[in-house]
Amino acid sequence: MRQSGLILGIESSCDETGISIIRGAPDGTASVLVELVASQVALHEKYGGVVPELAAREHLRSLPLLCDEAFERAGISPHDLESIGVTTGPGLKGCLLMGVAYAQGLAEAAGLEVAGVHHIEGHLLTVELEHPQLRPPYLALIVSGAHTELVRIDGYRRYAVLVRTRDDAAGEAFDKSANLLGIPYPGGAQLAALADARGGSRFALPKVTREMHDFSFSGLKTAIALLIRRESGSAALTDELKAELAWSVQNAIVDAICFKAGRALKETGLPTLVVTGGVAANQELRRRLARLTGVKTLFPSPARCMDNGTMIAYAAWRQRLAGAASLIGEIRPRWPLSDLGLQN
Ligand code: KG4
Ligand code: ZN
Repeated sequence: MRQSGLILGIESSCDETGISIIRGAPDGTASVLVELVASQVALHEKYGGVVPELAAREHLRSLPLLCDEAFERAGISPHDLESIGVTTGPGLKGCLLMGVAYAQGLAEAAGLEVAGVHHIEGHLLTVELEHPQLRPPYLALIVSGAHTELVRIDGYRRYAVLVRTRDDAAGEAFDKSANLLGIPYPGGAQLAALADARGGSRFALPKVTREMHDFSFSGLKTAIALLIRRESGSAALTDELKAELAWSVQNAIVDAICFKAGRALKETGLPTLVVTGGVAANQELRRRLARLTGVKTLFPSPARCMDNGTMIAYAAWRQRLAGAASLIGEIRPRWPLSDLGLQN
């Protein structure tokens, strides 16, 4: 078996094709040789959300193009790789299949193993990749388009989910509210930009989820829909009103996340909070969480909050180091993080 430490990471679980090549070191650190992401936002925008069949077809088109470019830029061939990591779940079935089929073809040609990677574990480990001094135990806040969880991390593959969402994820709440405000898909980042530029609002959305243990964001959509109807009736929203409502939405989501993260930190006594997933790119969330006293807060760089191949390559490298490499079995569109554990 080659021991170059070179790992190709393939991510295709949703609407981003991510291809990265990293060089892993035995001490658990890694350097990124090349990182390419092809976003499908323009493709899905007119439908107001991801169309799974179109997404799968686009992955099929982008995967070979990105991979060829990645090898060229890194100045290596597939035969130099030690292994390939590919997302096997959670995510859209057809999209996952495209990544896995491509990985298997490449592996077959180059005589390599393919490791199946859990997408959320990839997001989680990104913070360890970027902050090699980080040591468990710590509290992880995972906030993405499909996940909102607070997880106690006691070590590699020692994850205990403490708080989850009962309905929508934080990113979904951003995107659905953005949709109601007439902001094109995926909306979250644009809504945040409007909110940040506005800096305040007359409207306070109810702090509905404080008493509950879990997160719940579905009430927010109803609240914002009612507010829109009350304030503008059937007329189009003015830019002024749209920005004000955007601020209220962002404030309500950020407030709920900070409240629950603060409470979990207090209850667990953990000294470090790690924040990851697409919504971790939100500047207001980063500002507010960084203000929590007595806690060190760490985030990935904003670009690595979004889906990418680096997080998958790095998670595959960590599997190898732990002797936990999961050779590809089935695809798991639904795959709770709590199902991951070390066998020994
Ligand atoms: O992790 P990610 O790229 O995909 C999933 O695994 O779901 O997260 C995408 C989510 C989308 O819902 C997107 O709107 C949201 O992250 N997002 C943001 C921001 N940037 C991305 N939400 C709020 N503020 C942002 N700046
Ligand atoms: Zn993700």
